[in-house]
Amino acid sequence: MTILLLIVLNILGILSQCFDYPNPLKKSYKIAVECPLQQKQQRFVKLDSLPQLTQPNNESMFVITFNCGIKNDVLCNKAKNAFETAGKILSTVLLINTPIQLNASFLDFCASLGKCPNGSGLVILGGATPARTIPLQDDDGLVRLYPQALVKQFQFEQHPSFGPFDIMALFNAGGASFWFDGDPPITHDQQDFLYVILHEIVHGLGFASGWGDYINDQPEALTPEISITSNDPSGRFKINGFLETAFDRYLIHIPTGKKISAFTGNLNKFQKDVDLIFQNELDFKTKFRNSPQYEIAKEMMSYSITPNALGFLPRGFNKAVESVVLETRLRPYQTGSSVSHVDFQKYNNTSDFLMKFMADHGANLDSLIATRNGNNNEGHNAVIGPNLKLVLETLGYSTPEYTNSYKPSVTITGNGNDFNPTMNVPIEPGDSSTNNGKGSSVKSGSVKTYKTDFKKNNHNIVRIY
Ligand SMILES: *[C@@H]1O[C@H](CO)[C@@H](O)[C@H](O)[C@H]1NC(C)=O
Ligand SMILES: *[C@@H]1O[C@H](CO)[C@@H](O)[C@H](O)[C@H]1NC(C)=O
Ligand SMILES: *[C@@H]1O[C@H](CO)[C@@H](O)[C@H](O)[C@H]1NC(C)=O
Ligand SMILES: *[C@@H]1O[C@H](CO)[C@@H](O)[C@H](O)[C@H]1NC(C)=O
Ligand SMILES: *[C@@H]1O[C@H](CO)[C@@H](O)[C@H](O)[C@H]1NC(C)=O
Ligand SMILES: [Zn+2]
Repeated sequence: MTILLLIVLNILGILSQCFDYPNPLKKSYKIAVECPLQQKQQRFVKLDSLPQLTQPNNESMFVITFNCGIKNDVLCNKAKNAFETAGKILSTVLLINTPIQLNASFLDFCASLGKCPNGSGLVILGGATPARTIPLQDDDGLVRLYPQALVKQFQFEQHPSFGPFDIMALFNAGGASFWFDGDPPITHDQQDFLYVILHEIVHGLGFASGWGDYINDQPEALTPEISITSNDPSGRFKINGFLETAFDRYLIHIPTGKKISAFTGNLNKFQKDVDLIFQNELDFKTKFRNSPQYEIAKEMMSYSITPNALGFLPRGFNKAVESVVLETRLRPYQTGSSVSHVDFQKYNNTSDFLMKFMADHGANLDSLIATRNGNNNEGHNAVIGPNLKLVLETLGYSTPEYTNSYKPSVTITGNGNDFNPTMNVPIEPGDSSTNNGKGSSVKSGSVKTYKTDFKKNNHNIVRIY
């Protein structure tokens, strides 16, 4: 009787725990919050059956709460308009049935936040993050963290309670030289603000891996987010497990076709092998570093710094070589840039350039699209390239072209209890004459060139997270 009750409490414990990310500039900073189930708001019920009609032509489904922290009304208006335009673009490319609430701030980081340019010349441009992630049950047996913007689109009858915003965005009005629609021709060191915020909002929609080093200052071992519960004043805590993000479900190791979620299945054996309760952080770190699971975390790190090692396998594809190649060229591993972007080298010159980790400068969005797409009759909307659209559809967003998107369950049954850790997808179609098992045809020489570029460009603020 008692044991049963504990298990139920444990499951409910996972279910009602969400994470809030209040700081878009520090995406690793999360706060566990209670998010008990609540009824769906009735005003959206009627739209359920007719999703294609819920989005009037050209109307933005993004509700933007804009805070301007500078005393320049002209600039404030330009920034606000750019957010509205970004909302319209995404509302046309995606079928959004429930409005997405965006908290967007535009302020001088140096004057307002004390984050001033360094001798290095590196200026923080800004960032965006899901305001809340919500654990949902996936049909492969793992519990994953879904961005609230996406959870809303699933229109569950009952859903974990939502926070006031879906996406938090914060952009730097000082130091950075942004170009806005209507300005004189863009100069070499300017960046199109619309481009930068679209990139960030797409992260906020869920284009983000949860794999990171949560225990070492110098990253060396990667795990999904570690979910803990603690209500013990002595600092003792309990590990609930390792929680992937929705994005992570589709990660594969390209050379072998291995699903990266298999790693998570094995990592989750850690808390079964050792005591569930840890005395403090050091106790946990020590036990984890000494566990066989730590080797898995180190292997994931090695994939994250090896070109062509990690891919996102989108819907409708089942061969590893068909995946969208992710950014794994950066050495050393760059928190926030590695893995959560598309491979720069492969996609820079393609219509899927938006989600590379380094933003272009000296060209506005229209001309960037034109150089990559040639003749384009979609206007700005073409900024969401075909592979990016596929990724968003795979995560669960509907588009005018694809309405049959995947939907996880709100009822948590367990995180990997019956997970098959040996899942593989075929590496490539038929032909075995290619670089089977070797992954990369690109040697580390190109990494070097690339890093040089990155350093050279620092003062141009080309780096976006
Ligand atoms: C909607 O946008 C299209 C181009 O994207 C434009 O041709 C049309 O006039 C717009 N309609 C309205 C009602 O604004
Ligand atoms: C939007 O987020 C900022 C923090 O980035 C916060 O200070 C502000 O209160 C939020 N806006 C509203 C309307 O809650
Ligand atoms: C300034 O440099 C330090 C390390 O030298 C870094 O941690 C910090 O983020 C930098 N600040 C900005 C605004 O770039
Ligand atoms: C990335 O693509 C743009 C546009 O095609 C091009 O101008 C730029 O040189 C490319 N950068 C690299 C490093 O290839
Ligand atoms: C991308 O385009 C730039 C300039 O157009 C060119 O210098 C570069 O070699 C191209 N990169 C690839 C990988 O094709
Ligand atoms: Zn980014």
